[in-house]
Amino acid sequence: MNDILELLEARREQHLREVVELVAIPSVSAKPERAGEIRRCAEHVASLLRSAGISRVELFPTPGNPIVYAERLGAAGPTVLVYGHYDVQPEDPVELWETPPFQATVRDGDLYGRGAVDDKGQMFIHIAVARAFLERRGKLPVNLKFLLEGEEEVGSPNLEPFVAAHKELLKADVVVVSDTGMLQKGMPSICHGLRGLAYFELVVDGPGNDLHSGSFGGAIPNPANVLCQMIASLKDSAGRVTIPGFYDDVVPLRPEERAALAALPFQEEEFRATTGSPALAGEEGFTTLERIWARPTLDVNGLWGGYQGEGAKTVLPARAGAKFSTRLVANQDPGKISRLVEKHLRSIAPPGVSLEFRQLSGGKPFLCPFDHPYIQAAKRALEEGFGRPAVFIREGGSIPFVATISELLGVPCVLLGFGLPDEHSHAPNERLHLENFYGGIRSIARYYDALAGI
Ligand code: BES
Ligand code: MN
Ligand code: MN
Repeated sequence: MNDILELLEARREQHLREVVELVAIPSVSAKPERAGEIRRCAEHVASLLRSAGISRVELFPTPGNPIVYAERLGAAGPTVLVYGHYDVQPEDPVELWETPPFQATVRDGDLYGRGAVDDKGQMFIHIAVARAFLERRGKLPVNLKFLLEGEEEVGSPNLEPFVAAHKELLKADVVVVSDTGMLQKGMPSICHGLRGLAYFELVVDGPGNDLHSGSFGGAIPNPANVLCQMIASLKDSAGRVTIPGFYDDVVPLRPEERAALAALPFQEEEFRATTGSPALAGEEGFTTLERIWARPTLDVNGLWGGYQGEGAKTVLPARAGAKFSTRLVANQDPGKISRLVEKHLRSIAPPGVSLEFRQLSGGKPFLCPFDHPYIQAAKRALEEGFGRPAVFIREGGSIPFVATISELLGVPCVLLGFGLPDEHSHAPNERLHLENFYGGIRSIARYYDALAGI
């Protein structure tokens, strides 16, 4: 193992340069005008894989962005499917970045740039490790398959059909993903649960056109008032979602799981401080970790309607709308939740307005027990890579691919992520703590090596 670790250590500067190059490609999946950059990024990732010595590297076209698939087989060990994403979130609001988002910059041991942690820096770890094995030993300890997609940040709309059509190609003994975080600095973490997502848009339609609020106010239903009332009623004062049936399929927390969560050294005040919110709040009867990891919720993501300009304009808007989403937990199904939400909204809409409702994206939740030998091996690899005890965590975020592939293959999915809670993913000044980047590289190298012996 030392041969590989020494080579990886000697490559620190090169690894950093290569992540900087990846970040320099603005592969923003949400912006159609960046399609050329998406393509360029997919090709760049493919060429990195090729130059690492991976024998088969292909770009699979989809109705959206290309999927980068690569494999190097022929090893005696098990087959590992590595998943990651090369697309990134929009850089907006760009004026809040201290250094340009696509010009990655090191400051105080962190690499700042869009995609540094989510997910270019983390995805790169696996490529660097594969290259080191191939260079030093001419072979890999495990069979490696890579599936790197370019639409994760927009809900992976074309991934399920791809997976369904390529079951044989993707067959593996274990799925490994580095796209999550660590509980806190110095605490390497294995994530065994993700929340799912169902994201909606609701438009309330009223009068045929905007109206003078003096001549008509109080005499017709105002779509903006109606929208606010409807949305506000979706949660009660105890922080529970009021939609009938919403909690029906929720897997409850077992007493020993609650005890395990309570035993984690989670710093609630630090967590609050990272948000900048003066207080924490959520569903009554649950702790903060339980609320974000094991309980579903509903949040407004955007609201519009009526006059938004300077000063006052006395008007009744003809239409008003909201984007809102539910985060789901095992075993809630986004399709079923969508039907429940729509049915409920239609049942509470007052006469005199009409509703447009649609689901914009979705992804299933994921939860897997962590007693599998491949997962226990991951814990040891992290502990060796970081020289610190590792913990089991869940995440409140979503990675739609993980539930899809674990249902299809029925194999363990091991989420070894190296982000930190305050690294501003999706926000200005996204960064990656370089110690965790290098620790991640060491851990993944040890993990592949360990898997060969199981
Ligand atoms: N890497 C994140 C998932 C994540 C979020 C892991 C928070 C750990 C903590 C991923 O890139 C992401 O942002 N997912 C989206 C999925 C959505 C667009 C379907 C999310 O969670 O909003
Ligand atoms: Mn991600
Ligand atoms: Mn993301």
